[in-house]
Amino acid sequence: MLHSALINVMVKAARRAGRGLKRDLGEIEHLQVSLKGPANFVSLADKRAEEMLYEDLAKARPGYGFIGEEGGTREGSDKSHTWIVDPLDGTTNFLHGIPQFAISIALKRDDTVIAGVIYNPANDELYIAERGKGAFLNDQRLRVAGRRQLNECVVACGLPHIGRGDHALFRTEMTEIQNRVAGLRRFGAASLDLAFVAAGRLDGYWERNLQAWDIAAGQIMVRESGGIVSGLEGHDNALTTGNVVCGNEYVHGELLKILKAVG
Ligand code: IPD
Ligand code: CA
Ligand code: CA
Repeated sequence: MLHSALINVMVKAARRAGRGLKRDLGEIEHLQVSLKGPANFVSLADKRAEEMLYEDLAKARPGYGFIGEEGGTREGSDKSHTWIVDPLDGTTNFLHGIPQFAISIALKRDDTVIAGVIYNPANDELYIAERGKGAFLNDQRLRVAGRRQLNECVVACGLPHIGRGDHALFRTEMTEIQNRVAGLRRFGAASLDLAFVAAGRLDGYWERNLQAWDIAAGQIMVRESGGIVSGLEGHDNALTTGNVVCGNEYVHGELLKILKAVG
């Protein structure tokens, strides 16, 4: 399938960094047995992946700015274009050898994300989206699920862990939603949660306290698949607030109603 030059640049970078992460995942399986565990090794793998992505993206598009989780912000001479990159989303999964993690790359032009690539090297699933051109998983056009009964829906969430977020608020949200849906999931990689909604595998997803690099590529993926993404008050501010809810028009609306009532 033919893609734009921009998508080709993003895919090439994601695949190269992905090969590194896949090799590292193999190594982690050996390190699990050591007492110290693979934590340091993972943090190195993470940084290495980000450097590779920066190298490739900066070479292909010199001057674009770069915001990465590991290296912080690197200003570019072109003030309207910025890459937003999570080199390893789902670190805890990766650390434990759980193959649910991804490289997430988005490109923002001024205030709008215009392209996104999410790549899980463990199963070779590649999601791409470009503004106005649709979203694809390994070249299959994506469409969000069409369910209109919450009690038939499978919904994913984030689950705040030690030292993170408001656990009591999460439990209240979870109780309300748990009572209304067919299944609740916690997969552990925000970019893939959004990609799964885009692919119609999940009907909806919500999470608080994320960062722009967790959401940017997934947001355009869901929107280009016909879904709705917003912050938890219903505004288009998920990227700046770090709080996100999404689904098809109906599911998004229902989840938002519940979350607003408890939040
Ligand atoms: C995390 C994952 C996880 C979400 C966390 C994120 P990281 O990103 O996306 O699903 O619940 O809040 O920070 O740290 O693995 O890149
Ligand atoms: Ca992340
Ligand atoms: Ca990360």
